[in-house]
Amino acid sequence: MRRIALYSDIHANSVALDAVYDDMRRAGIAERYCLGDLIGYGPDPAGVIERVRASGDPAIQGNYDEGVASRRGSCGCYYATDVDKANGAASYDFTDTALSPDDAGWLLGLPMHIPLLEDDARILLVHGSPRKINEYLLLDRTEHQLARLAHEAGADAVCHGHIHIPYHRSFVAAGSVAGAREGATVHYVSSGSVGKPKDGDPRACWVELVFGDEADVRAAAPGDGAAGPLGLSDVWLGVVVHRAAYDVEAVARSMVERGLPERLAEALRRA
Ligand SMILES: [Fe+2]
Repeated sequence: MRRIALYSDIHANSVALDAVYDDMRRAGIAERYCLGDLIGYGPDPAGVIERVRASGDPAIQGNYDEGVASRRGSCGCYYATDVDKANGAASYDFTDTALSPDDAGWLLGLPMHIPLLEDDARILLVHGSPRKINEYLLLDRTEHQLARLAHEAGADAVCHGHIHIPYHRSFVAAGSVAGAREGATVHYVSSGSVGKPKDGDPRACWVELVFGDEADVRAAAPGDGAAGPLGLSDVWLGVVVHRAAYDVEAVARSMVERGLPERLAEALRRA
């Protein structure tokens, strides 16, 4: 059985990241990947970059990382209201000022994708989607849309961050996607968010992928209704969503102390 830990969207929250690293160590998982968005919104961008660099975990570039590291003036995020836009601009400026040239260069050197193999099943790690760093693969995407995206990317499983809501979906690809492998099971896994969850649970989130035979995966991921074979292979994939508690209030207070908008601190408390 192979177990992999995925974490993403840390968003400059080093206290939440420490809690997640502790949780992963307790779970005994050594193979770990960071799916991007280390910085933005939170109070400690340098501390998060320092920890991820020191961890040696392979990491993918996120849209916030790319936007600030390239000094482009925008993170490529979607903001629904003018107030959100103003808070987003304050967060961008704070992060831009805090980011050292060395860390910016490191972020710009991160890959957009990491491909993995499990037997002959193909797993693709991305930040937003296989085609776009800031595409939101929310739960309203249809199986047809997701099957087409996975087929175009040559993946049996797509694992992504960016939406800050963890999930695992799987379905059998129908023949309506031209060229797709008929009868193959397609998986999508969202890694949630370490430092800025948006699913109503303020605790830090990470996800565990479990690969193995059906019995092992069902035993290791008993609550996962989407567990199933990967592609056309005999290898199964199951997912466990983990949450790690930390002092959310202390981080929210330090955001305000450092001049970040009160509304962003409130969003951290509310998740
Ligand atoms: Fe993102």
